[in-house]
Amino acid sequence: MKKIAVLTSGGDAPGMNAAIRAIVRKGIYEGFEVYGISYGFAGLVAGDIRRIDVNDVSDIISRGGTVLYSARYPEFAKEEGQEKGIEQLKKFGIEGLVVIGGDGSYQGAVALTKKGFPTIGVPGTIDNDIKGTDYTIGFDTTINTVLDALDRLRDTATSHMRTFVVEVMGRNAGDIALWTGIGSGSEQIIIPEHDFDIKRVIEEIEDGLKRGKKHTIIVLAEGVMTANEFMDLLAQESGNYDTRATVLGHVQRGGAPSARDRVLASRMGAKAVELLKQEIGGVCVGIKNEQIIYTDIIETLNGEPHRPLLELYQLNKEISY
Ligand code: ADP
Ligand code: F6P
Repeated sequence: MKKIAVLTSGGDAPGMNAAIRAIVRKGIYEGFEVYGISYGFAGLVAGDIRRIDVNDVSDIISRGGTVLYSARYPEFAKEEGQEKGIEQLKKFGIEGLVVIGGDGSYQGAVALTKKGFPTIGVPGTIDNDIKGTDYTIGFDTTINTVLDALDRLRDTATSHMRTFVVEVMGRNAGDIALWTGIGSGSEQIIIPEHDFDIKRVIEEIEDGLKRGKKHTIIVLAEGVMTANEFMDLLAQESGNYDTRATVLGHVQRGGAPSARDRVLASRMGAKAVELLKQEIGGVCVGIKNEQIIYTDIIETLNGEPHRPLLELYQLNKEISY
């Protein structure tokens, strides 16, 4: 194998650039020609492919987003798109591909693998919802961004004795809500992986207010419902609160990657290149117990669903009431 390529796909995540840089630099270090594909699978099918040199990835380790741009391109689920993609790779003489993205992007990597093209998945998403890894690239930066917002909201919530419902991202996963709920000392964490009883939530809020608490912060994962829907639920059961809804939205996806995400991305990107050097494809890279690992991508996606660290949920009940 002499030529390899990299693309970023799905929602961008801070640290994707650090992964691209690692793949390019480690790739060239190992003697490969490295190609960048712009706009994810859309760019692959369109042949938006160019050679990347060592200097092209200067000054990107500290930048959020992805210099290769990203795209949602549902057409890649069809065979026609996948075949066209492989044709483009062959046209450039590329023999191995690294896909940085979330679980949707992994499906694209699986499709290429099933068609016999050596492809490696690197988990890049703020949601932390990818099988085969404890952490994804972008999650650490995002939880720090959300924490910063929650700290600010606490100031104003306390000044006005308000209840804030803060909707955070995560798609169907509660990881962002769990980690930021604990980290901010928020009174309630509402996630898809755990039931909640609105009457109990209200009792707990009222207990806190009776004890002299000046605010309540409820961190709500978007996979449960919207902040406005949750406010309606609260209002139906109790009309007494001065409540505000905050939707943090896409600010959660931007910004300079944290040290942890830069290191994780560098390690994972380099690992993907090592695997291609050994002619290994059809796998995804992960981190388990601080070790960089790889597993068969098809088996991994068919395996156990991703579970957040649910012990954090109970911990919050015990320390943030
Ligand atoms: P993420 O990778 O962040 O989960 P998406 O779910 O939007 O984001 O997926 C990113 C892209 O991966 C899609 O726009 C599409 O190009 C590709 N993709 C998603 N599902 C499939 C599939 N079943 N087969 C092939 N490609 C897919
Ligand atoms: O997967 C990353 C993510 O930011 C999710 O947390 C969120 O549900 C979704 O992408 C938002 O997608 P879009 O950027 O297309 O609005």
